[in-house]
Amino acid sequence: MSFVEVAKLADVPDGGVLAVEVDGTEVALVRDGEDVYAVRDECSHASIPLSEGDVEGCEIECWLHGSRFDVRTGKPLNYPATEAVPTYSTQIEGETVMVDLSTPRS
Ligand code: FES
Repeated sequence: MSFVEVAKLADVPDGGVLAVEVDGTEVALVRDGEDVYAVRDECSHASIPLSEGDVEGCEIECWLHGSRFDVRTGKPLNYPATEAVPTYSTQIEGETVMVDLSTPRS
């Protein structure tokens, strides 16, 4: 696969999250200033959309049990989640946010 357009940059709130679907995969876009990160929109502890949680910087918190994930790596920062969520590569082209589901963020 390759990069596909998933959102307009203006639609991703700075310091917030936008849920999008990319080829059948639920993805949470998290914006921190000019940077946009993409992770699978499903907590690794249970099937809760991470996009329903709060964002602080590069972290998103699952509202159900409070695990926070670093959206740069997908790794949980506290219990109860112990497994990382998948990350995806992103690109900003002008005002467009692009995601490549086949490539983890590096
Ligand atoms: S479902 Fe997300 S921390 Fe439990």
